[in-house]
Amino acid sequence: MEGKKIIAVIGATGAQGGGLAHAILNDKNGDFSLRAITRNTNSDKSKALADAGAEVVSADMDSGDSLREAFKGAYGVYAVTNFWEHFSPEKEISQAENIAKAAKQVGINHVIWSTLEDTRKWVLLGDNRMPTLMEKYKVPHFDAKGESDRFFTENGLPVTFLLTSFYWDNFIYFGMGPKKGPDGKLGITIPMGDRKLPGIAAADIGKCAYGIFKKGNEYIGKTVGISGGHLTGSQMAHSFSKVLGTEVTYNAVPFEVFRSFGFPGAEDLGNMFQFKHDFEDYFCGIRKLDESRELNPELQNFDSWLETNKNIIPLE
Ligand SMILES: NC(=O)c1ccc[n+]([C@@H]2O[C@H](COP(=O)([O-])OP(=O)(O)OC[C@H]3O[C@@H](n4cnc5c(N)ncnc54)[C@H](OP(=O)(O)O)[C@@H]3O)[C@@H](O)[C@H]2O)c1
Repeated sequence: MEGKKIIAVIGATGAQGGGLAHAILNDKNGDFSLRAITRNTNSDKSKALADAGAEVVSADMDSGDSLREAFKGAYGVYAVTNFWEHFSPEKEISQAENIAKAAKQVGINHVIWSTLEDTRKWVLLGDNRMPTLMEKYKVPHFDAKGESDRFFTENGLPVTFLLTSFYWDNFIYFGMGPKKGPDGKLGITIPMGDRKLPGIAAADIGKCAYGIFKKGNEYIGKTVGISGGHLTGSQMAHSFSKVLGTEVTYNAVPFEVFRSFGFPGAEDLGNMFQFKHDFEDYFCGIRKLDESRELNPELQNFDSWLETNKNIIPLE
């Protein structure tokens, strides 16, 4: 560890941070060492990271003091907030502010902030193409992250804004896998019409972030969008059919129908897909496949991701 630059990783026990954590741990001869940040240093995932050689420290994004302690002596910080744990944009914004302040206080050299678009820059609150949610958001889990970008710029931090993409892992863990319709056929339901959805293997996000840290100052002050593939629903269904060896169809439900599904976050996600649909050129354009692959030469495409994960995708 001696002489290595420490990267403090928020979310190291989760999908995004976990990808970065393992990229650092696997690069034994690299310039960086891992400080994994978690609320629970006794969890199985924390213990596994410690066993693999990580320094594991306790901090909570709700406490700026705990973050400051956890960031001390680190060169870099990977910052990701988890909207889906609490569904509160205000909490997400306050956590991002805590991260930026703590990083400033201890003089971090490079922060990567895992962000998303503040969709209200494209769809004004008065634009009725989609409902306004929680009084002041269009896509709460996007808007809160995009609104928080300013904490990093206002604090004058050396920051890279990382625009992530839809995790293909949602087909495994987020209830989006192929389901049997009334006709008995498997189908994926995504309200994207015939437009392309940028996606990525969740673990590749952290690997791309590692590529950014390895580039030194090159990405400081920049926004970079990452994706492993831009695919239409039909293309994804075709890949599913090929890899699973059984027909999977694409149900391009209207946005209103998706919003009405009733599960927690359905309206937020319905608006999110509509944003990605309506602003396809921008949204795909900024998530560059070549640059993502340059940052992470092991970047998976949808077919390779499906091949690796076909046995754990629930088919209901
Ligand atoms: N699903 C998608 O398609 C998608 C796409 C792009 C972006 N995103 C965004 O990704 C974010 C979630 O990231 P993820 O998927 O990596 O999460 P995840 O796998 O659910 O893990 C959450 C991580 O956050 C940590 N964490 C949560 N609250 C914390 C707190 N108060 N203090 C310290 N650590 C905390 C957890 O650590 P401990 O539990 O160990 O403390 C855990 O490591 C969401 O905000 C979502 O909007 C999702």
